[in-house]
Amino acid sequence: MKHTLLTDTLKGEKRERPPVWFMRQAGRVLPSYLKLREQYSFRQLMHDPELTAEVTLLPVHDLGVDAAILFSDILVIPEALGMKVHFTDKGPRFDSPLKSLKTVGSNLSADSSKLNHIFKAIDIINTKISPECSLIGFCGAPFTTFCYMVEGSSANHEFSNAINLIYQNKKAAIEVLEKITELSIEYAVNQAKHGIAAFQLFETHAGLIPSELYIELILPYVRRIASAVREQNIPVIYFPKGLGLGITHITKNIADYAGIDWQYSISEARKQIDANVGLQGNLDMRLLSIDSKEILIRELEKFKNFGKNNFNWIFNTGHGLSPNNLFNNVKFVVDWVKSTDWGR
Ligand code: CP3
Repeated sequence: MKHTLLTDTLKGEKRERPPVWFMRQAGRVLPSYLKLREQYSFRQLMHDPELTAEVTLLPVHDLGVDAAILFSDILVIPEALGMKVHFTDKGPRFDSPLKSLKTVGSNLSADSSKLNHIFKAIDIINTKISPECSLIGFCGAPFTTFCYMVEGSSANHEFSNAINLIYQNKKAAIEVLEKITELSIEYAVNQAKHGIAAFQLFETHAGLIPSELYIELILPYVRRIASAVREQNIPVIYFPKGLGLGITHITKNIADYAGIDWQYSISEARKQIDANVGLQGNLDMRLLSIDSKEILIRELEKFKNFGKNNFNWIFNTGHGLSPNNLFNNVKFVVDWVKSTDWGR
């Protein structure tokens, strides 16, 4: 395994500055991505390994980030479980979400060969990625994937059918969560075998249920996926957005790093989470939509003290970039992180 700023930082080693990358860095803000999208659909970009590799590496070239994240989607797992998903302008849409079915989980059957094109893409990326940059693999954490499978889209922001299913028919919910977890483990371990440097679990919707319920019902699945990846010697970053004080449950036996969302204070998180667990985050990405470097610098400066004293920290936004963010601001943040004297 090659040594990079990211891999050293993931091990907790002191480096001169934190590494920087962004969730959703490939799509949405890059002019080069938007240009490719005029020619290809999102699905084409995801399914052609050469194109996937090209898009994965665009942010490294255009923004200068220290890590590339595999260009794919968390919904490849429902697809490999036999569900039909359309990626539309209004987000993903499932043909037959589980909420419309009488027998919720029984018709899901895994076909992991549907994921093979992703491993091919990883092989290509590894031949092209620069020596100082690392590739991050990912999958959705079980609850977020479950929410989309039951609801079929994000039109209902509360995902109430998914939550009702957990309360009303826990047995059926568990059956689905088990299937997601088993396939996610196979998928994640294969990503590890094809040479990712780190793995992130995206739990975007952790905040939709009470944190106690999340910890009791979902965290054991998260731990199973994370452990399988860590057995391959690949560090795991776990991003449970909106989990609030539940983040105190992220101990070293769950994950190596915790992603902190923009709602939480990163220095508070540092006090509350096991010191051996590194942190990633958490600039409010809405700042990237404001056309003012003054405001941006003012907010960035707030991270300086934190970064001086915390070596196990990766700079990122508190959630994914959005199409409203300005490319120049995103680039400015990368340059700022790289040129700042962190006083280490
Ligand atoms: O830089 C990257 O974008 C990395 C690849 C990536 C995508 N999706 C590509 C994508 C990653 C890591 C994801 C994760 C993902 N996908 C999550 C979890 C993280 C998060 O952002 O909350 C979720 C919930 C999804 C499901 C999904 N896919 C949604 C809700 C949408 C529509 C809204 C959106 O995020 O843009 C998608 C489509 C999607 N996934 C796009 C991209 C680049 C937009 C496709 C396009 O129109 O070009």
